[in-house]
Amino acid sequence: MIIKSAKFITSSAKFSQCPAVKAPEFAFIGRSNVGKSSLINMVTGIPGLAKVSSTPGKTQTINHFLINDEWYIADLPGYGYAKVSAKLRTKWSLEVEHYIIKRDNLVCLFVLIDSRISPQESDTRFMEMLGLKQVPFARIFTKTDKLKPGEVKKAVQKYDELMLDTWEELPVTFISSSTRKTGKEELLNFIEQSINIFKKSG
Ligand code: GTP
Ligand code: MG
Repeated sequence: MIIKSAKFITSSAKFSQCPAVKAPEFAFIGRSNVGKSSLINMVTGIPGLAKVSSTPGKTQTINHFLINDEWYIADLPGYGYAKVSAKLRTKWSLEVEHYIIKRDNLVCLFVLIDSRISPQESDTRFMEMLGLKQVPFARIFTKTDKLKPGEVKKAVQKYDELMLDTWEELPVTFISSSTRKTGKEELLNFIEQSINIFKKSG
C-alpha cells in the first residue's frame, strides 16, 4: 500500500469522544515508551504526525489519524507508566479498555513489545484479556535496531514459548525498527489485506 495522505483528526480523552466512523481502523498499544507513536510516523512516512518523546507517558489521549481518506490509525496511551497518578492511570486504562472492547470498526489492535526486554506480565496479561474478549490483535516487536539479528530471533522465540503455555495458536507477528524502517512494507501489506477482508465482510 502506498500512503498518499495522512491527517491528524482529533484527540479524545474519552472513548465516547472518539470520532464516529465506519471506516476500518487499526490501533497501536503497548507499554509506555515502547515506540507506538514512532512506529505510526514510520509506517505513514510522516515524521511528527504522532508526538514522540523519550519521556514515557507522552501520549495521554486516543489520537485519530485518517490515512488515504480511507482508513484510520489510533495512537493510544501506553500502559504501565508508573509516574502518573494511580487515579489518572485507572481513568485512562478504563477509557482505553472501552475503546478496545467497543470500537466496532477496529480491524486489528497492534500490541507493541520492546524486543530488548524479557516478557512482561503486563503484556502477557493484556493479550490474555484480548483473547478472552475476542479482540483481533497482532504483535509487533519494536526497537530491533538495538539488538543483533540473532538476538531478535531469540527474543521472539522466548516469547513464543511462553505464550504457547496458554495459547493454542500464536498471533500474527512483526519485527520493527522505526529508525531503520524495518517492517514497514510487511505492516502496510497486512493492513491492506485486512482492509480488503473488512470491505468484503460488509
Ligand atoms: P508513550 O506515548 O509515552 O506511551 O510512548 P510511545 O510508545 O508512543 O513511544 P514513542 O514513539 O514516543 O518513543 C519513545 C522513545 O523511544 C523515543 O525516544 C523514540 O525515539 C524511541 N524509539 C521509538 N522507536 C524506536 C526504534 O525503533 N528504535 C530506537 N532506537 N528508538 C526508538
Ligand atoms: Mg506515544
